[in-house]
Amino acid sequence: MQRRAAVVGNWKMNGTIAFTQALTSAVCAGVTERDHNHTLACDVILCPPFTSLSTAQHHLAGSPVRLGGQNISEAIGGPFTGEISGSLLRDAGCSHVILGHSERRTLLGEQDALVARKMVAAFRDGLIPIVCLGETLAERTAEQTLAVIQTQLTALLALLPTAEEQRAHWVLAYEPVWAIGTGRHATPDQVQEVHGFIRKQLTDRLGTTIASSIQILYGGSVTPDNAAALFAQPDVDGGLIGGASLKAETFLAIIDAYPKNF
Ligand code: 13P
Repeated sequence: MQRRAAVVGNWKMNGTIAFTQALTSAVCAGVTERDHNHTLACDVILCPPFTSLSTAQHHLAGSPVRLGGQNISEAIGGPFTGEISGSLLRDAGCSHVILGHSERRTLLGEQDALVARKMVAAFRDGLIPIVCLGETLAERTAEQTLAVIQTQLTALLALLPTAEEQRAHWVLAYEPVWAIGTGRHATPDQVQEVHGFIRKQLTDRLGTTIASSIQILYGGSVTPDNAAALFAQPDVDGGLIGGASLKAETFLAIIDAYPKNF
């Protein structure tokens, strides 16, 4: 099955209103032009901070660019001061939400079971979850990478909804913790090894058709210089981009790095 690729910009805790206006406008102009020229090979999703969602939504209207949040609460709504629900993100124009980013796992203590419940909440509220997985440097050095990935993935699969439409339409992002923001990306071979392992786990649990429709993104120090080699791997369906998504020029260059099979 032909999977559509995705390049996702995770702005993290960056993006004033003025910055959002400028960056969203520039990205949307570039993506719209590529779409018109039939050279756009992937979906493009911007994930600004909550405070900039409405500005981003305003500026991307009419373009193929889609909007995502960076986290949700597992709760439906109510007395949860400081939290944001999936339905509030939907209301703000989001189609996607990033969940289980290693910064949240490490800094805020989010564990596999909570990430899985947030995935369920995203599906419930009509969002496509982009769930992050990845090992630390110590875990890689101890040759625990695949075991760590399997544990994180197993927690998700245990709560994956039964509806085929949902099982087939979610996104996994392999982000080795040691590659995030360090300038040290995983090699294409390292990435393919983990992505191939994830695809095999998905195939064993969900069957070939569903497993082959799930997007698996790579994240961790992706730049215009290394994106093409990473995206050329058979199980790499695009990227989750941090630092390089904060400049239109570098983000668009990464979008252009996705191979065009049409
Ligand atoms: P960098 O691209 O800055 O390494 O960040 C990756 C990331 O964490 C995306 O979610």
